[in-house]
Parts: sequence; C-alpha cells; structure tokens
Amino acid sequence: MPTEDPQSAIRALLEEKRVFPPPKAFTDQANARDGAIYAEAAKDPEAFWARMAGELKWTKPWTKVLDWNPPHAQWFVGGQLNVSENCLDRHLAGWRRNKAAIIWEGEPGDERVLTYADLHREVSKFSNVLKGLGIGKGDRVNIYLPMIPEAAVAMLACTRIGAVHSVVFGGFSAESLRERINDAGAKLLITADGGWRRGKILPLKAVADEAVKDCPTITKTVVVRRVGEAAGASFDPARDVWYHEEMAKAALTCPPEPMDAEDMLYVLYTSGSTGKPKGIVHTTGGYLTHVYATTKLIFDLKEEDVFWCTADVGWVTGHSYIVYGPLANGATVLMYEGSPDFPDKDRFWRIVEKYRVTIFYTAPTAIRTFMRWGESYPAGRDLSSLRLLGTVGEPINPEAWMWYQEHIGRKKCPIVDTWWQTETGGILIAPLPGLTATKPGSATLAFPGISAEVVNDAGDPAAAGYLVLTKPWPGMLRTILNDDKRYQQTYWDRYRGVFYFTGDGAKRDEDGFFWLLGRVDDVMNVSGHRISTMEVESALVDHPAVAEAAVIGRADEMKGQAVSAFVTLKAHIQPSDELLKEIKAHVVKKIGALARPEDIFFTSELPKTRSGKIMRRLLRDVAEGRVLGDTTTLADPGVVAQLKRQYEEK
Ligand code: PRX
Repeated sequence: MPTEDPQSAIRALLEEKRVFPPPKAFTDQANARDGAIYAEAAKDPEAFWARMAGELKWTKPWTKVLDWNPPHAQWFVGGQLNVSENCLDRHLAGWRRNKAAIIWEGEPGDERVLTYADLHREVSKFSNVLKGLGIGKGDRVNIYLPMIPEAAVAMLACTRIGAVHSVVFGGFSAESLRERINDAGAKLLITADGGWRRGKILPLKAVADEAVKDCPTITKTVVVRRVGEAAGASFDPARDVWYHEEMAKAALTCPPEPMDAEDMLYVLYTSGSTGKPKGIVHTTGGYLTHVYATTKLIFDLKEEDVFWCTADVGWVTGHSYIVYGPLANGATVLMYEGSPDFPDKDRFWRIVEKYRVTIFYTAPTAIRTFMRWGESYPAGRDLSSLRLLGTVGEPINPEAWMWYQEHIGRKKCPIVDTWWQTETGGILIAPLPGLTATKPGSATLAFPGISAEVVNDAGDPAAAGYLVLTKPWPGMLRTILNDDKRYQQTYWDRYRGVFYFTGDGAKRDEDGFFWLLGRVDDVMNVSGHRISTMEVESALVDHPAVAEAAVIGRADEMKGQAVSAFVTLKAHIQPSDELLKEIKAHVVKKIGALARPEDIFFTSELPKTRSGKIMRRLLRDVAEGRVLGDTTTLADPGVVAQLKRQYEEK
C-alpha cells in the first residue's frame, strides 16, 4: 500500500511561495540579459523567430516566415538549409575546428573525444556509407543504438543526405521496435552488437534480429561493434554489414544536400491515449531554429561550456538538447552511456568533476533518486564547475528543486525548469536564467515568441485548467506520420483548431507564472517516460490468462507515477504469485522494461459505467488510498467498494 499522501506533491506546488531572483553575477554575463526581449518577441513573434533563424546558415533565403493554415503550419517557406552543415561545417572555419564537439564516457570507463573536425569527417564518411547502401533523400532510416557517439553520427549523416531518421530508445522490446520500423517504412536499420548498462550487456542486436524478421521494408542492417565478442551477437552476411568495415572504405567528404525548410527531418514515436504509438513528424528549418534559439538563451551556452544532458538520444530531449541544439551552437556536449549508480552512486558527480561540466540537465525523478541516496555522494566530489542546472520531463516537487539547488548547484546556480513535449520539438516554457526569477516547482514563463495560456473547458483564460498554445511555433510537429486525421483530433479539435491542446493541466499565479500539474489524459508519466495506459492494457490482455485489464498511473514519490494494473482473469484461472510475475514479464516482452507494472491487482470485476466504460478515476482513488469519488454512474457501485476493501487488506 502507498504510505505517503499521494496528493502531497500537487499540494506542495499549489502552496509554494518562495522566489529566487536571478543571481546578479549570472545576469551580468547572460546571453539574454535585456528584459525587452519578451516584449519585443510578443509584439512581433515572426520577426523574433526570423532573427533567430538568421543566425543559422541558409543556402537559399526564405520568402515567408510563417504560412498558417490551421492546424498546419509552414515556417521559413521557400528557404533551404542543411542541418548537418549547420551543426558541423559551419564551425570548421575558425578555431572551433579543433574544439571538442562530443566528449563521451562509456559505462565501463572508456573515453572518446570527437572534435568538430572529427565529427564532420565521421558524419561525411557515414553519409557515403548510407548512400552506398542505397539510401537517399526522403528514405527512412531506423536507429536502435546505445548512447555512443555513433548514434549522433548516424543521425547527422541522415540529415546530411536528406534521409529521415527514426530513433527508437534501446530499452524498447523487439515488438515495439518492429511496430515503429513498419510504421515508418524504414529501409535500413542501424544497431549495435550490444550496449552496457549496470555492468551487464544489453543485447540490442538480438532484439533487432527478432524485430526485423517481420519488417519487409528493411534491406540492410548496419551493426556497430560496441561490446565485441562478449555480446555474442549473430551476424547474417546477407543482411548485416559492420559499421567499422564500411567506414574504413568510405570516402572522406560528402556535400550536404540542400533541404527545403519544410522537408521532413525526423520521426519520433511517442505514446498517446490509444494503444498505437504516434510518429511525430518534425521538419528542418523551423525545428533547427527553435532548438538553436532555446539552447542558446535558456542554457546560456558559451564557447567554453561543457553541456551535459543526461537523457538518452532515443527520446526527444536527446534529439534536441544532446544533438541538434548544442551542436548548432558549436558547443561541447558530454554524452554518457550508462546508469547513474554504476559502479557507484556518485558516477554522475565523478563525471561532472572529471570533465568540469558547467551545465547539467536532468529529470526530477533522477533528482529524487539522488536525494534518497543522500547528499554525501555529491558532497564527496568537486562540483564547482557547475554554473546552471536544468530539469525536464515532469513537474518537479519544490522539495526536490530546493535539494537540487543546495546540494548540486551549491546555491549559486540558477535552475531552469523546462516544459515541453515530443510534439513541441523544443522548450516552450522555462526561465531565461539571467532574467527570470524562479519559483520552486514552476516552469515560469513562455519562451519569447511563444504564446501559452491556461484555459477552461470553454477556452476562456482561467487561473487553473488546461495548458494550450495559442499561436504556432517553429519547432511544432507538422503532423502524425500516416495519420493526419489523428493529428487534428488529438491536438486541435478540442479547441476548434484555434488552440493546440497539450494534454497537461496547469495553473497560473498572480505573476503569470505557469505551474504544470501533470497529464489530464490517459498518458502516464513514469520516471519522466511517457507511457499510454491503453498500450499497457493491450499488452496485459494479450496474455492468455487475462480477461480484462485497466491501468492507471498511481502517484509515486520517486517515479512521479507508477504503473498500477487491475486485472480480471479468465474463468477457472487462479491468481498466484507465479502468474503475477509471468504477466509482468509479458508486458516487458511486449513493450519494454519501462512499462513493467509496479503492481498488479487481481479482481473479479472492474468498476464500469452502465455503458460499459471502465472508471479509471475510481481505480486511481482506490490505488492512492483516497475516499471514493462519485460512484453514482456505476452499473454496480458495490464493485468498487469491494475492490477498495480488498485492496486495503492486501
Ligand atoms: O506532461 C508533460 C511532461 O511530459 C510530457 C511530455 O512528455 P514527452 O513528450 O515524453 O517529452 C518529455 C521531454 C520534453 C508533457 O506533456 N513534462 C515535460 N516537461 C515538464 C513536464 N511536466 C511538468 N514540468 C516540466 N518541466
């Protein structure tokens, strides 16, 4: 049973009153230090974004900044540019040529540094490898790799030749990978023999083999040798090629393909409120402008910074703030392969100390874990290089925010709490660290040029309600791959094509600050990972013993939410611990370990309305130990009362 008060996190947010003005020393050197930037961008957002886009290299200028046919936007219409040219070639002329672009640390302790010249050469070579394998402009390429520099090389090489990448997080199962490859119609898969996690080998190639058995569009698989013999990976000479062998033969230069601003850059799958993941489509010019500008102004990037975003490149945070945003700024990025507690719980702080990391960006769930491990781990390391901290992925509880400020930031680093989504491409709500006062638990204000609002059901501004975006922005998704109707329904129909519906609840305080309160739809946020209740339910009912299942995100002190499942078994099947384990393992096999239910509760019936709809709200009340909400619409109100009694006896 949950022991803590599950609503305490939300209550703490609603009652928070502390304010921290930006430290003067920070403001004095900040990239954004003139408060006029907000008013200037609000007056003419298109001019603001055009100014930002103008800092990139375009091979053909745009003729129109924004073409808005709700709900479809086009940015920088008529313009041409290449993303890899902006992230690499643009930095080669001067001394940045020999500056570190990627500093990489593998989990076993191996290290690599790639300068901008090195990365440019690797990307050019791999672009030629891709071309040699028959990949060209508009082709889809799937990437299923651990956190190794080759992941960034593969992504950038796709952008160089105009291929569309679809990166799948290495923790997803073969079935999830297959579904994503097939939806994207990928011609090529790039994977590795394995990866390292907590001293163990992740069998990526074995999972990839299992997936591509039923992927008719895949013609070849490129395999990076990361682990070597120990991985025991199979190799099919008819389909597989080794990355290092192809690279050894590849020519050193490859001209960047000029791309239209609205050409597709990548697809990234995320969970929605149905069982089927959505392929979020991002395009070239607007996306790059958005991630370039937000990285520069929110993370205050300077030439000498070492920027560490702890996300995996399999998520949007890795796309935008490990690869494209920082490299477009010519920054030094740190990339780490493994977990924070291996070989010990101070691994992150050792890395900060070793490489003199200056900007550190992580998720609230990680911060809460560090809190639980205790402050002696960071205290034992020299963290004096840090000058700015960030968080992303879920609401941060004020207690974790204060701990982060004190024990990691040593009270001198501003904290940028950044709100955004896979769909938004880049950050939309966050402080500008030299300008905006911060409040623990608030993502503060919309980024210049972004129009956000909290509205009620009718769409009128409200102190508490739903977060919406009232104007298009450059990094916004353009559609859902192969399903434009779902794009319209999910994000635009709710407010008749006028506002973009985020799916998040929020409130606004007297200073106009935004406080994000979590999802209002059937999407769970487990340790900052987005998982759909329906996806887990489908995996559960796929098990032969399960008749029916309902899944909720139960409030959890560490993870934000935990996957909690209520399951009815088929007739004559008896619940047992054995079966419980088996069903959990089935979900892991279907989706991946990130979706493993924390608890499964066997019940003879689920609470349903008279029309047969499962009342998840009541299940949440049961799982979080609350007084039951309104049960009058239930077909049989006795079911939920019985369930509550059973649950409490557990
Ligand atoms: O609920 C919000 C939460 O994460 C959701 C987006 O998830 P995903 O597309 O996986 O992207 C995560 C990384 C950008 C949002 O709808 N979320 C993200 N950042 C915050 C947040 N909730 C509160 N505060 C944040 N800073």
